[in-house]
Amino acid sequence: MTSDGDEIYLSYKGVRKSFNGVPALDGVDLEVRRSEIFGFIGPDGAGKTTLIRMAMGITDPDSGECTLLGMKDRRRARISAGYVPQLFSLYTDMTVNENIALFGSLYGTAKETALQRAEDILKRTGLWPFRERLVGNLSGGMKQKLALASGLMHTPEILFLDEPTTGVDPVARREFWAILYELNRQGLTIIVSTPYMDEAELCTRKMFISNGRILDVGTSEELLDRYDKKILVLELDERRAKDWLLKCSHVCDANLFGSTYHIVVDDVGAAAADIRKELELRYSPAPELTEATPSLEDLFVAFSGGVTSCRAQQ
Ligand SMILES: Nc1ncnc2c1ncn2[C@@H]1O[C@H](COP(=O)(O)OP(=O)(O)O)[C@@H](O)[C@H]1O
Ligand SMILES: [Mg+2]
Repeated sequence: MTSDGDEIYLSYKGVRKSFNGVPALDGVDLEVRRSEIFGFIGPDGAGKTTLIRMAMGITDPDSGECTLLGMKDRRRARISAGYVPQLFSLYTDMTVNENIALFGSLYGTAKETALQRAEDILKRTGLWPFRERLVGNLSGGMKQKLALASGLMHTPEILFLDEPTTGVDPVARREFWAILYELNRQGLTIIVSTPYMDEAELCTRKMFISNGRILDVGTSEELLDRYDKKILVLELDERRAKDWLLKCSHVCDANLFGSTYHIVVDDVGAAAADIRKELELRYSPAPELTEATPSLEDLFVAFSGGVTSCRAQQ
């Protein structure tokens, strides 16, 4: 090890895991280093939760090896790891303070230390003014923060968050991420799973996973550098347009993102000319077509849909 940043805090080597004969992890190789905010990005059923549960020693690989904080014995290592599961249950008939004290006691923290730690964490997560409130009366965003606070009660070195902001409003999500950045700045290594691309963007490094296989790993810049397609954006909110768009030359794929089409092409000039010809025939006035920089969302759709070929000039 040459510096702190090179320390491997989590690793998977050739990891396979099946449930009832169906592969959930299909040969996973990955290393996460100290001080990263690392994203497990993928759709439902991709294998994200299985990876996290395996890191925490809740489940074992069928073959291959998983280490946490350099240790094969992850049940021993997890004393220094925090875990906030996807469906985290707080006690709704207890106050914020009572909940967090309970988590302190679960880890065997001395009462005085636990109280001090709780105060510190509640202040850092902005929950201190609400410490006497019943959890049942907290907003969704505050509940997520309390779940996070609970996972920090035993001062872990690495924290696993499984889809921590699913169902939380955008403002609360931003606040949540500001706290994560602050914790990371103070030295906490964070692993976060999410299906949201705006959150994927916020991770310092990330991997795309689908059907138990890692599709790519890197920073946003590295991942986008490897993407060799171009994107045309078409201001057209019409589901059935996809059929003729896919028939245009040099078009590899076309998907509605909200109310605009993102059209994946290999030759911008040739594709745009062909699409414009069709637009003028079909619409008056013709909707706007512009080139856009590919985003992580474009990459994700490409990975999930498996764009393989483009229509050449006919
Ligand atoms: N305990 C389990 N028993 C049976 N199948 C499971 C179990 N845990 C996960 N799976 C299956 O493994 C695959 C990956 O699941 P999971 O890791 O939960 O994905 P994600 O968290 O990305 O949604 C899914 O097909 C899921 O149904
Ligand atoms: Mg999951």
